[in-house]
Amino acid sequence: MTNLNIVILAAGVGKRMQSSQPKVLHVLAGKPLLGHVLDVARALSPKKICVVYGHGGERVPRAINDSEIIWVKQEVQLGTGHALLQTLPYLDTEGVTLVLLGDVPLIKVDTLGRLIAKATENNFALLTAELDAPLGYGRIIRNEATGTIQAIVEEKDASKSQLEIQEINTGIMVLPNSYLHEFLPKLQNKNSQSEYYLTDIIEMAVEAGLRVDASYPVHGWEILGVNSKANLAKLERINQREYANELLEQGVMITDPSRIDVRGQLVCGRNVEIDINCIFEGTVHLGDDVKIGAHCILRNVVVSSGTTIFPFSLIENAEIGKNCHVGPYSRIRPGTRLYDEAHIGNFVEVKNSNIGMGSKANHLSYIGDAIIGTKVNIGAGTITCNYDGAFKHQTIIEDDVFVGSDTQLVAPIRVARGSTIGAGSTITRDTPEDQLTLSRSKQVSVTGWKRPKKNKT
Ligand code: UD1
Ligand code: MG
Repeated sequence: MTNLNIVILAAGVGKRMQSSQPKVLHVLAGKPLLGHVLDVARALSPKKICVVYGHGGERVPRAINDSEIIWVKQEVQLGTGHALLQTLPYLDTEGVTLVLLGDVPLIKVDTLGRLIAKATENNFALLTAELDAPLGYGRIIRNEATGTIQAIVEEKDASKSQLEIQEINTGIMVLPNSYLHEFLPKLQNKNSQSEYYLTDIIEMAVEAGLRVDASYPVHGWEILGVNSKANLAKLERINQREYANELLEQGVMITDPSRIDVRGQLVCGRNVEIDINCIFEGTVHLGDDVKIGAHCILRNVVVSSGTTIFPFSLIENAEIGKNCHVGPYSRIRPGTRLYDEAHIGNFVEVKNSNIGMGSKANHLSYIGDAIIGTKVNIGAGTITCNYDGAFKHQTIIEDDVFVGSDTQLVAPIRVARGSTIGAGSTITRDTPEDQLTLSRSKQVSVTGWKRPKKNKT
């Protein structure tokens, strides 16, 4: 198909969402509903994409922020036909237009490709589906003798026998542009809702002697729309389950495919194992043999091969090397890089720091704005004091340093190669290489001192 235009209808109010936010900006798998539809639209490489917006005003184009989209405002929502009419000045006069709905986010490229293949300059194509419970949808009226499509009748305008029809209009269709220019301005609103129905265009086409073909979605769930928070939650689960199934097919061991959430892209190597209730956001890469324990959250992270992330760890905007151990209960914040074989243990927070190869901070530490060399041991309870109330300062710990437990390193500071810091020290000046440095008051024992006691009455 040479000339493909795509129009996404997204101006509706979405009353049942019970929300002040425009419906199409509600989020599914970390992305606005409209964003999902736009991704599919772009994948079809159309000549142009128009989005009809209205309810919620400029918030919709602002949130999507794509200058290639033709944004067309529908000031008042007078129906789907009226919505498409607004785009007419921008549509080509030849080729076809694919109409998508901004609140039907799970539609897939394969399904649309098949639908588009049925349309020509003189042929209309409708995406229809057979539903056991067709409640709320427009019904497809076919000629009883020939089976050809005659019209779409909206539920609110349907007769009792028409309501029995189980073939429904998904709302997604492909329309020849020349006929759109001819028919759209002729739509009327003489119906039970006083709306300009786009669906009336089908009867016009049939009357003009044109063909209307139907095509069906590959998966039944692709056509589901979001009208309420309950719908949104249901679609989120369908979407997540599909993603999990794809990962399983690629050989990723997901302990329970109903307990994983991917809000973005998860790219996995071989022999990856993911335990329950993990969330992956943005783009996450997991190398070969990586294991992710239960209840971890990873956001824009690269984890190299052989690394294990133990349960309850939160890692964002970080790079984790090969054969590292992280967690349980680690917090790795943006700007962190762990080199190969580093260990970050429980209740350790690392921010904007490099942890050198084979270095370890296994218990109860804060490491911020630090550069740590190789084979460094950071004792339990060590804190880099990186903030003076106004500015952040850097801590440099060179190779082979041993930092005793409960040490404060007051930045800016450099702990030289081979230094040992005695436990319980507050270090405020750079240390010399290969020496023991400590800052503690001397231990005393007070003779004759008595522990206070309560008088028993
Ligand atoms: C529409 C179809 C119906 C189909 C159903 C599928 C018509 C007349 N009916 O009904 O046959 O079964 O979708 O879900 O087309 N919109 C606008 N401007 C408007 C009105 C709607 O942009 O003035 C947008 C909405 O944001 C939504 C889409 O068009 O994305 C569909 O509108 P909606 O009100 O949900 O139509 P339905 O009555 O459900
Ligand atoms: Mg609807």
